[in-house]
Amino acid sequence: MTAHIIPPLNPPLPFPDRAPLLRAEGLTRGFKGRGGLLGRGHEVLALRGVDFALARGEAVGVVGESGCGKSTLARVLLHLTPASAGRVLFDGQDLARLPRRQLRALRRRMQLVFQDPFASLDPRRSIGDQIADGILIHHLAAPAEAQARVADLLAQVGLDPAHAGRLPHEFSGGQRQRIAIARALSTDPDVLVADEPVSALDVSVQAQVVNLLKDLRTRLGLGLIFISHDLHVVRHLCDRVVVMYLGRVVEEAPAAALFAQPRHPYTQALLAATPSMHAAPGARAVLSGEMPSPANPPSGCAFRTRCARAQPACAEALPELLPAGPGRRLACPPALADLAHGAAHA
Ligand SMILES: Nc1ncnc2c1ncn2[C@@H]1O[C@H](COP(=O)(O)OP(=O)(O)O)[C@@H](O)[C@H]1O
Ligand SMILES: [Mg+2]
Repeated sequence: MTAHIIPPLNPPLPFPDRAPLLRAEGLTRGFKGRGGLLGRGHEVLALRGVDFALARGEAVGVVGESGCGKSTLARVLLHLTPASAGRVLFDGQDLARLPRRQLRALRRRMQLVFQDPFASLDPRRSIGDQIADGILIHHLAAPAEAQARVADLLAQVGLDPAHAGRLPHEFSGGQRQRIAIARALSTDPDVLVADEPVSALDVSVQAQVVNLLKDLRTRLGLGLIFISHDLHVVRHLCDRVVVMYLGRVVEEAPAAALFAQPRHPYTQALLAATPSMHAAPGARAVLSGEMPSPANPPSGCAFRTRCARAQPACAEALPELLPAGPGRRLACPPALADLAHGAAHA
């Protein structure tokens, strides 16, 4: 077998001292229209050139309004949906070039948790059997030992191991999400991709599940990609935050820096739009209007149609994601100009 020589990727590493685990470059994904107003055949661009990197053990939040491409990004990173352009390297291996068997083996190391655990759990099988599936499929324990492993996983997510024989409907929403997390952990993954895992839960339960993920991260050294339409949910869980708008990354920064000083007008508007006790300084803009259709995004900066700072030039070129401080990148020429101006006068 010939070894492919994989040239280095463009996106800078979030933590240069930590080995990169997952890297993606130029991810683009379109979907043919389902009919409706725009008619069949019209392409919706869910991702329009996304670069992404995750260090080993790092927790990254991916945020943006519904429809901005978060779930598509998750699926493309796991190679559940192939990218139309761009590539994904997991531990140095290009997912699109892996033979099926190797891709399956690699999938063990990246697990997905969905928004609705009820839809992802089989209503007729005991939760213990469903958690055992991954262990048995990937031969991680002999069948006789699988039950002990299931009991251990249930305890890890804060559930009673004695309830392994129960059916999903016997649990509450929050408990079902714990079961889904236990099932994801059953294969001993390096990365958990959680797509809006608390969005369907009561507010009081959301914090418990977020705390569980936080705790699992520290205990297991788990990498985490936490997707949420609510910026505030990722605040205390994630090391770094990536903000998406209409299929593009518009800002990325260490979580503390992003909340202290959001720089993209969209990030500022998102922060101001969500009621919070911790309103960030400078976040006075309010998010108005609907997100334009991804089938027909505005030219240049897609956010300009809702942006208080929009200038005529914003309609021209697609803004590039450029360095904007330690560990930060920003795709807004006016905000970048302010930064440069501030630096010149500092
Ligand atoms: N399988 C699909 N077929 C057609 N369009 C899709 C499909 N999946 C996603 N889309 C479209 O792509 C865009 C991004 O969707 P998605 O990734 O689900 O966004 P988010 O998770 O941020 O809400 C939306 O306009 C959505 O309608
Ligand atoms: Mg989604």
